[in-house]
Amino acid sequence: MHEPHKIKTVRRTAFPNLQERRAHLARADFNVLRLTPEQITFDMCSWGSGAMSQEQVAGLYIGDEAYAGARNFEHLAASVREVFGHAHVCPTHNQLGNIKLVTTTILPERGAVASNSLNLRDPLKPRGILCPIFRNHAETVFTGDLDLAELEESIETGVHDCNPDDMHPIGIVHVECFADAQHPVSLANLRAVRELADRHGLRLWLDASRIVENAWYVREHEEGQAGRPIADIVRDLARTAHLVQIDGAQDARAHTGGFLSTDDPEVYEKLMNEVVVYEGLHTYGGMAGRTMEVLARGLVEMVRDDQVNWIMHQAERFTARLREAGVPLERGCDGAYIKVDEFLPHIDKYVKDAFSAALYLVSGVRAVNPGMLYRDRLVPVQIPRLALTNRQLDEVADAIVHLWKHRDAVQPLEPLGQFRWRDEVRYRWIFPDIPEYRFDCSPHVIHTIEYVGRLDREARRRAIEEAGYNTFLLRSEDVTIDLLTDSGTTAMSTEQWARFEAAVPSIGASREYADLVSVLQDVFGYRYILPTHQGRAAEHILSQICIRPGQFVPGNMYFTTTKLHQEMAGGVFVDVIVDEAHEPESDFPWKGNIDIAKLDRLVEEHGADRIAYISFEHSVNMAGGQPVSMDNMREVHAWSRKHGVPVYFDATRVAENAVQIQLKDPRYRDVPVRDILREMMMYGDGCTVSGKKDFLINIGGVLAFRDDAELARKAEEMLRVYEGNVSDGGLPVADLAAIAQGVREMQDDAYIRARVLQTRYLGELLMEMGIPIVTPPGSHAIFLDARRFLPHIDQDEFPAQRLAAEIYVETGVRAMERGNVSKGRNPETGENYRPKLELVRLTIPRRVYTDDHMRAVAEGIRRVWERRHEIRGLRFTYEPARLRFFQGRFEPVD
Ligand code: F0G
Repeated sequence: MHEPHKIKTVRRTAFPNLQERRAHLARADFNVLRLTPEQITFDMCSWGSGAMSQEQVAGLYIGDEAYAGARNFEHLAASVREVFGHAHVCPTHNQLGNIKLVTTTILPERGAVASNSLNLRDPLKPRGILCPIFRNHAETVFTGDLDLAELEESIETGVHDCNPDDMHPIGIVHVECFADAQHPVSLANLRAVRELADRHGLRLWLDASRIVENAWYVREHEEGQAGRPIADIVRDLARTAHLVQIDGAQDARAHTGGFLSTDDPEVYEKLMNEVVVYEGLHTYGGMAGRTMEVLARGLVEMVRDDQVNWIMHQAERFTARLREAGVPLERGCDGAYIKVDEFLPHIDKYVKDAFSAALYLVSGVRAVNPGMLYRDRLVPVQIPRLALTNRQLDEVADAIVHLWKHRDAVQPLEPLGQFRWRDEVRYRWIFPDIPEYRFDCSPHVIHTIEYVGRLDREARRRAIEEAGYNTFLLRSEDVTIDLLTDSGTTAMSTEQWARFEAAVPSIGASREYADLVSVLQDVFGYRYILPTHQGRAAEHILSQICIRPGQFVPGNMYFTTTKLHQEMAGGVFVDVIVDEAHEPESDFPWKGNIDIAKLDRLVEEHGADRIAYISFEHSVNMAGGQPVSMDNMREVHAWSRKHGVPVYFDATRVAENAVQIQLKDPRYRDVPVRDILREMMMYGDGCTVSGKKDFLINIGGVLAFRDDAELARKAEEMLRVYEGNVSDGGLPVADLAAIAQGVREMQDDAYIRARVLQTRYLGELLMEMGIPIVTPPGSHAIFLDARRFLPHIDQDEFPAQRLAAEIYVETGVRAMERGNVSKGRNPETGENYRPKLELVRLTIPRRVYTDDHMRAVAEGIRRVWERRHEIRGLRFTYEPARLRFFQGRFEPVD
């Protein structure tokens, strides 16, 4: 089970320390509602906090902000017809707008609202509207079902509050799907309520804000409903009602907005005429056009079966973890509702707020129930829809369990006055002495998502055949988890987008360029910084200005484009990487190192002046993402000073190399990544960078020189001819802004650690399954060893190519061949090179996938592993002369 989407945009979350949390709490008068998001690590609220899809975000930008008859309204009306089957829609600004409108137009004077929802009392009680609750008392999963006999009796007699002489007739029947987020309703009960309402001339008003979770329950637990699509059940549920209400901030994952929909022209007429008084005209109802657009899109998306399954899976998993630890709770459709009376039995007043304050204090997690005080004794710990990973949720659960273990230390709160609503309460509190809970997960929450391909196995079998068994030729649309490359595939952060948006185009100088230069000067310690459109552009310029024809360029293995540009400048590439790098089974921790003896040999044979420079790559890609040790960089640097040969880094994956040093070299265990990075760069004279990797951007590159003004001038000259302006390198100013921010973010220890540990996690899963990979696991990718995976296939039948194709068919995961096909043919003999490394690369994009995706990848590969003996090789049906791996097509030999 994994997310049916990938991450499109991330948002950094805060990790205030204990000292800071104490200060924040004290300043908030111990009322966590007064904390701001910058002070909170995980905000456990499902309302208005869901991750939007990229289509919804796009909708924000195509708001037709017309006063009347906006296109967005028409789109919303179409979505409502599609999802609920209702002909009429009346937009509102939010849930309170809905309630206001219904109670003023449909509810008769003095009429009471019969409901299954406790939460409805908050807005109704202050207006003097009675809201009696009818819930089934039978033992059933559908705890939100109404007791029909009780309801009918009350309809006949009327209801009263404190005074039995003051009877109110029931004026409308309100049913909330998943009442108070804890009580699902059955379709059968809803149909019976409708029948009853019709009999008494009352209207059934359905709050469908959490209808998809309710539909999931119907599918799983109601007789005759198993296996039906969520969308069908949703329509059935909605069509039982005279009037449906939606809070846009729930299932539809808008941040606000709402509407009422109906098939009844008379109801619609009433709503339409009244909405203009409180909300806005009947075609916008108090929503911006963009909000209607987001809602229209979210409504259609919310009924996707796999998305509902994922949301329910997360809630189940989260509550199970708490329950197993003995935490008293009620399960909700969106998380756990902590029974604070049992959690903190020694506290009898303001116990909900004592729980909320204590949880925040020990962990930075906020769980709070807004609204009126004294309503119930439950504190919701809700999961924002699609916004957190299971790993993060596990840790949130562990934080609660941690508090549970230390619960006796929690002190009661002392209120500083009389209050009715939770947002206004102020307290005095004695800080309990509880050790803090520390998070060890990715510091990013999911801000927006991107849906991924959902073909079944048979369709994938056809897709790979059509693609000639070449994963490069698959359509992204047909791929579920795309591990083709980590290049340009990063999820940008909200901070990057903010700067991207704010940038002003310029053909000359810009603030963003100045910012990029100063950020990189600081990170690298180099004076001259030249932006390029991507890495190979920087390689081109460096090679042209630093290599004289016939010179040697020693490098620690090679990258395709790097070597190509060196050769195009007349250079001769020499591999000087340590021998271990070519042995997939070696456990040597620094397989990226340069073998100094190989450099010495080169000087002995040809002299130092025949060497253009040392091409020194961090986290060597082709070797499996293998790091270089700090000692090796220091030694190579010393060697280079002795021989007067410059060192140019390929710093494309410099941050990943830095964190590997932190993880593997005990002397650097407590050194922050930014300091390690700075030391690494000291051992070079300049660098090229493909920004599409560690810099956390989708496009861009850099060429930099430590202090050589003459070289920088020459490079600028070429930049003007090949790339763009010196102040943009051919990139829009907005991208410069995103790069500068990405470079800041890549030095964040919590992020880069989580990144590299995620790759390692995939590697370890595969190793545990006995599947042969290049060891140790690298930073950006795990490489499968196809020679050992498919030993029965001759290398001339391209085992790695076939393995990549089979992995796609089995799992929807797209990988890349790095073996005989990539290496090509020897032009002299016409034979395939048959390289020693016959690999399949599983490359992990940054901030895009979760640990659950990784587990799904490993399990899929295990299925291929189990049937490996049946797998045969491939032969070319079309073989291009150059770079044949991109366009080549194959057929199976079987
Ligand atoms: N250097 C290294 C180490 C690379 O991995 C890449 C690209 C480049 C240079 C070239 O940079 O693509 O920005 O022009 N590697 C990608 C990959 C294509 O999938 O490994 P670029």
